[in-house]
Amino acid sequence: MRSFTQCVLGLLWLTGGVAAAADSPVELRIDAQHPGALIHRDIFGQFAEHLGTGIYGGIWVGKDSAIPNVRGIRSDVVGALRALKVPNVRWPGGCFADEYHWRDGIGPAAARKSTINTNWGGAVEPNSFGTDEFIDFIEQIGSDVYLTVNVGSGSVREAAEWVEYMTAAPSSSAGKERAANGHPAPYRIKYLGVGNESWGCGGALSPDYYVNQMREYSRFVHNFNPAQTGAQAMQRIAVGADGEKLDYLESVMRAWRDKVWSWDLEGVSLHWYTSGGWPPAHPSTHFGLDEYAKLLADTLHMDSLVSTQSALMDRYDPSKKVTLAVDEWGIWLAPLPGSNPGFLVQQNSLRDALLAALNLNIFSRHADRVRMANIAQMINVLQAMVMTDGARMVLTPTYHVFRLYVPFQDAQYVPVTFDAGQFSIGTTTLPRIDAIAARKPDGHFVVALVNLDPNHAVPLRAHLDGAALHSAHGEELTAPHVDAINTFDAPQTVAPRALSAQVTDGVLALTLAPSSVSVLELQ
Ligand code: AHR
Repeated sequence: MRSFTQCVLGLLWLTGGVAAAADSPVELRIDAQHPGALIHRDIFGQFAEHLGTGIYGGIWVGKDSAIPNVRGIRSDVVGALRALKVPNVRWPGGCFADEYHWRDGIGPAAARKSTINTNWGGAVEPNSFGTDEFIDFIEQIGSDVYLTVNVGSGSVREAAEWVEYMTAAPSSSAGKERAANGHPAPYRIKYLGVGNESWGCGGALSPDYYVNQMREYSRFVHNFNPAQTGAQAMQRIAVGADGEKLDYLESVMRAWRDKVWSWDLEGVSLHWYTSGGWPPAHPSTHFGLDEYAKLLADTLHMDSLVSTQSALMDRYDPSKKVTLAVDEWGIWLAPLPGSNPGFLVQQNSLRDALLAALNLNIFSRHADRVRMANIAQMINVLQAMVMTDGARMVLTPTYHVFRLYVPFQDAQYVPVTFDAGQFSIGTTTLPRIDAIAARKPDGHFVVALVNLDPNHAVPLRAHLDGAALHSAHGEELTAPHVDAINTFDAPQTVAPRALSAQVTDGVLALTLAPSSVSVLELQ
């Protein structure tokens, strides 16, 4: 309830509005003359952990598989992900990262060690997908690397040697070993995560102990890729807040303010899942409007988390050098009946698509501080983009939101004002709509519009103040029911369709379908 009140107050404040009548048109003004921060493409990042079938089955099928693949990596999944322009992939975990030993996953197949995935169902980890396969995957989808090193059960030396293996020239032993494994050119590591949830599965370390460790990793883990200097330098991301628990964030930021020449960091993480309580018990299929509304209200709490943490960071870093990296977010629901509970398998509905859009909108509004984020997770796990079953693959409603939002990557945020209004379902009250807008690098504007109300269409009139508006085209994602899902047999139940929008005398008029996400490019 607290999160709901905060979010509604936040939206009313943001829009400066008074609740509008349920069927009156919303007047939306896009302020083209006062662009804000860049919406960094990295906020559309993904997360692929060795968990359930997120890697094995979802990405890696092996070179001898009957499923079409390139060097063991399934081609249908690569094709689907390429369309999302995935900016970065966080790997190998998650909790898995703090028990991962990279040497188990390099070299000839016969040399790979089988280990037990203690975090996720005790599954046998064959280590067939290791560093070189991950980079191959990154190159196939055209993305960047976000590597999380093992702080919990590893050492500074192990992490330093891993990054040396990945980035050194073949003139050194580490680079020679990589070259012998088929990759003479150094790899590029854009982001380096220093541990994962060190306040929990990463070792339950005290904030002070973690900060001491983090400083050593920052100091001694070197990136030797000659192309990664200056603006291209690897960015280090420290463990930060566990939802509302701020002790890590405070300690990391205090240490950063007082740092000496020998170490630095560029980001600090925030992990928070929409779950409507813990452990996650809400079903991912066959839910009603009451549950729909409660979980959307819960997800809007992300805005207050980001605002609070950004304000805390401002105290130590008023010029916003350090990124708030929301590197685990999404909806975490009850395991699908019949699935291994340790594999975190859930369905993905129209409701989850709206939830993704609302979070991306929140990150965009905080683009000055939130410059990267990773939805959990990419394939077959939690709020996935793609689900696979043997040779079959289906794109989820959340996938379609990420595809619709591609034009926002590296676009410049522009303020929008509108009267969101409100509607209620049971005891939950929500804003009727949410919206963001941005100016793309080509100078054109793009707007994303979410109608949260499952029972009413919302007529809307958009004005582009300070720029000419002649035409608009776009797509809309909706379905007849909020719990609609895509299945292998019915993959198009929740799929975008072209949106017709009329522009008359510089005013765009359209009607947002109930429970929908629409993205339009304005010209
Ligand atoms: O995404 C699943 C798990 O959630 C991650 O491994 C962990 O970091 C978080 O608790």
